[in-house]
Amino acid sequence: MGLPLLEDLPDPRGKKVLLRADFNVPITNGHIDDDLRITAAMPTIEWLQERGADITACSHLGRPNGAPDEKYSMDPVRERLKQLAPSVELMENLRFDPGEEANDPAFVDKLIRGFDMYVNDAFGASHRAHASVVGPPKKLPSAAGRLLAKEVEVLTGLIERPMHPFVAILGGSKVSSKMGVIEALIDKVDHLAIGGAMCFTFWLAQGMSVGDSLVEPDWVDACKGFLDGPSKDKLMIPTDVVAMGPDEEVKVFNGSVPDGWKGLDIGPETTLAFIAPLERAGTILWNGPMGMFEDPRFQEGTVDVAEAVADSHGFSVVGGGDSAAAVAKFGLQFRIDHVSTGGGASLELIEKGDLPGLEALRKASNA
Ligand code: 3PG
Ligand code: MG
Repeated sequence: MGLPLLEDLPDPRGKKVLLRADFNVPITNGHIDDDLRITAAMPTIEWLQERGADITACSHLGRPNGAPDEKYSMDPVRERLKQLAPSVELMENLRFDPGEEANDPAFVDKLIRGFDMYVNDAFGASHRAHASVVGPPKKLPSAAGRLLAKEVEVLTGLIERPMHPFVAILGGSKVSSKMGVIEALIDKVDHLAIGGAMCFTFWLAQGMSVGDSLVEPDWVDACKGFLDGPSKDKLMIPTDVVAMGPDEEVKVFNGSVPDGWKGLDIGPETTLAFIAPLERAGTILWNGPMGMFEDPRFQEGTVDVAEAVADSHGFSVVGGGDSAAAVAKFGLQFRIDHVSTGGGASLELIEKGDLPGLEALRKASNA
């Protein structure tokens, strides 16, 4: 990818380093639910500390819309970071200033004041052309941190040199947000399974009834395009689903969901079909849950797929957000080869092959 790495920085001894991390972690009642994004920054922090750098980290947290908001204070993150790396300072939420999302040059100047160099380890935010992501490389010697470099290496390697059979399993609720990635993957994979509520737009495209399930009618034609396209034999669409009906009754339906019922998980027949190719897969990419796994009644499809991905001998990659949360919830993260810290960023990298944050680093004066 041609990114400047930590080794390409001037000697950091005694220098002030601005570290952009993605510490946008899930927090409930002031408690961090999953600290993966904090621990994942440690290799970079340790590398810099071993070389005597003075590190100040910065990150966004949530979407406070350009104004201070106690709800999005970095305090819980600062507390966790203090345990892991006591000497690292952490700035307040970058998005408390409207200049961050607006990529305001004045905010960039304020941000970098007093710093000698910049490290971007915020893979999960590198699809955002925000001030702290794209601004500093124009002004300071800059490098990709270890996490950012690894994410890029794994995800681009997956697309450019996958071991076959290459199986992709996509889920989540909105087919509209996955169209680009389906497009990018369909020629590269051997099988592409579609789970989650987004399968119902494919069902509509096949003329099947979906009851009250979530659909995006504007995307039916795009789904038809894939179902009739040259790679149609690679597509795996659910044949049965678990649905909830009147009085919260839960039932499996084969081939169609009646009115008054809403599909919320893939069914047992579909699960078997999806996990079958995983056994001999060379590469697996999984992004998006198979159903509403937060509710135990609709978690089975996601649990079974997660376990099959973990069991597989192939190189397994789980793309951030909800599927990473599912993997952590079921305690399977250590049996997956790479759990990405990026949700939107991992999808955009697969789709477009580049991100604004990477482009900015490549243009840095020391690159
Ligand atoms: C994420 O969690 O997807 C990243 O931290 C980016 O956050 P954003 O979607 O609010 O820009
Ligand atoms: Mg997001």
